[in-house]
This record gives sequence, structure tokens and C-alpha cells, in this order.
Amino acid sequence: MKKEIPLSVPNLSIDIVDNLRECIETGWVSTGGRFITEFERKFARYVGVESAVSTQSGTAGLHLALRALGIGPGDYVIVPTLTFVAAVAPVLYQGAIPVFMDCDDTLCMDASKLEEYLKYNPGKVKAIIVVHIFGNMANMEKIMELALKYDIKVIEDATESLGTYVTEGCYKGSHAGTIGDIGVYSFNANKIITTGGGGMVVSKDQGKLEYMRYLSITAKADSLYFVHDDVGYNYRMLNIQAALGVSQLDELENFVNTKIKNYEMYRQRLSEINGITILPFKNGIRANHWFYSLLINDQVLGITRDELMKQLIEEGIQCRPVWKLIHTLKPYKGYNAYRIEQAPFYESNVLNIPCSTNLKIEDLDFVCEKIKDIVKA
Ligand SMILES: Cc1ncc(COP(=O)(O)O)c(C=O)c1O
Repeated sequence: MKKEIPLSVPNLSIDIVDNLRECIETGWVSTGGRFITEFERKFARYVGVESAVSTQSGTAGLHLALRALGIGPGDYVIVPTLTFVAAVAPVLYQGAIPVFMDCDDTLCMDASKLEEYLKYNPGKVKAIIVVHIFGNMANMEKIMELALKYDIKVIEDATESLGTYVTEGCYKGSHAGTIGDIGVYSFNANKIITTGGGGMVVSKDQGKLEYMRYLSITAKADSLYFVHDDVGYNYRMLNIQAALGVSQLDELENFVNTKIKNYEMYRQRLSEINGITILPFKNGIRANHWFYSLLINDQVLGITRDELMKQLIEEGIQCRPVWKLIHTLKPYKGYNAYRIEQAPFYESNVLNIPCSTNLKIEDLDFVCEKIKDIVKA
């Protein structure tokens, strides 16, 4: 049988079945049950905040964050162009106006361009959605300084960076997602831990956090008489999702260690190839090393990124480019994009390779050998 190596798949222990059995036997399979509160408490402890609110998805969390910060029709929100579309779509759900920002070499938002934009557009922007791409971390010191100066709210999309934290500077010890006004996480199946689908929001502002919890349960003010005194959503996490979450959270540090180990192995093995560089994670953080991105120099390598990708896929190795830049996509084309210069380069030259925590050493060998064979041929 042909070997197939997927890009990023869940690593679920069979012990999780005990938690699921409890949900089924007790009938607590929906938006109530002990696993939800346990997961929220455990999660808050892990990232070092007082409390957390679970959601159906990271996208739902981002939408709640915008609502809680009062972002509505006509408000300007700065967003990255190089990211997954779910970081931006909720801005349009709210009738707000995205302004697309370029990335720097961490693939996260370029804080210098952000500074430049704000200098020439003071008073215009109400919020920024910063995405910590692939487990890396944006320049939060600079972004928070600008946010303070210009009175702008900051939403951290930490959906890809659970487990990443700062090790130097004024935010030393802070986890990705806990520095801005609201932080959002995802437990989608490709993330470092998964609940099948799901998300979490955190905030230092307990009022905002409770408001998001309330909105996530259809803004139900009285559960006996069904009084809803705001327009809410059905965004609350299910007990069966949280039943996976409590168990996955116990594995998180092991998963990060595996991610780091596998990254190092790829880095060493692939550094022998001229024209391929595995993108580094920045200094001053403990990165969760969620995704492994190769930067392909086709001139040196003698083969294009897309040709390499095609041949790897034919060999059963799932790999992917980064996302299409959002400001070029149909629903987002008409909006402002500020000096997008770096992102097109990464869009054209990055290739993500298998990074699941359950990869075996022979899988990693197989990927490296196939890459070497293809570029030699
Ligand atoms: C950067 C980013 N933002 C938002 C999301 C949305 O999370 P979810 O799939 O849980 O809705 C994802 C991933 O799925 C993501 O990678």
C-alpha cells in the first residue's frame, strides 16, 4: 500500500473514550456539562489568566471578540492579508471595514508598517486583529505600544499559537493571546490540540468575558422564561467537545516538545539542500512550532515551489502553500490594503510540510528523502 503522510492531523489518545462514554451515559452531550467548565478552568490556568470562555470554533470566538469590543458598521479594523480567512471574515459579519496590512519575516503583521499607517491615519482605526502565524508571535511590544498611543483595541488571534509564550522583554511569561484586549484560540482538527472543532476566548476584562459568554448562549438572560435581551448566537462549546479538550490539554506540553524535536530534525536534514530554508521561529519566545514552513528559492533549487509540491503530493506527502492573500480574494478586494510588499513573496515561495505530532521518525525520514530525490532529479 502506498504510504500517505498527511499535513496536520489530530493526535487523540484512546483514553478519551472514557470521557465520551460519560457524556453519553449521563446525557450531557450538548452545551451544558462538567467537561465544559473543567476545560475552561484548566485552559485558563494553562495560559495564566483568571478565566476563559469556550466556543464552537475559533471563528465564533473572533466574532464574539468584535462584538464585545463594540466593533460595528463603518468601524475600521486592521487585519493581516497573509492569514486564514476566518481571521477577517468576522469583521465583515459586523459590517466593519478591514484594512489589510503586510507581514514581516515572521509572517505575522509588520508592526513598522502598522506604525506608519497609524501615523498617517490617526483616529481612524478602532481595532487590530493580530494573528500569531503558525505558532510564531507578532511583535506585541510594538503593537501594544501603538494601540495605547492611538487608543485602539487589540484582538489576538492565537488560534495557531496555543503553547507559545514570551521569554524576554516586558511581556516575559505571557502566553500568546493574553496580551491584547481579547485572545482567541482554536481546537480545530489541524491545531496543536483538538476538540474536533472548538475555540476559547480570554480577556483580562471580566466584564467583556462574561458578555461573550452571554452572547454565546443566545444572550439568554433568563433560562426559565426565555428572556433574551440582546442578539446572541449559538456559539457555546459542547460537552462532548470539551470532553476531548480536558484530555488533550494534558498532552499539550508533550506535543510542543515533539513539535520542537521534529522541527529540529527537519531543519538539520533539509539544511543540506541549497535553495530550501526552514523558516525560523523568532527569538524571545517559546514557540509551539505548530507548522513547518519551507522557503523555496527556485532559482537556486532548479525547481519551482509548485512543482516540488506537486511531486511530493504524488508521493503521498501532503503539503500546502500558504493562503491566498485575503485582500486579493473576491469578497475583500474592494478594501484598503496598505503597502503589501512582503506577503506576495511568502505567498509564492512557502511550502508547508507534514507536522503532525504523531509522525514517526521514519515518516520524517521519508519526507526528507523524497524532497532530496525530487530536487536532485
Ligand atoms: C489564523 C486562524 N484564524 C482563525 C481560525 C479559525 O478557527 P476555527 O477553525 O476554529 O474556526 C483558524 C483556523 O482554523 C486560523 O488558522
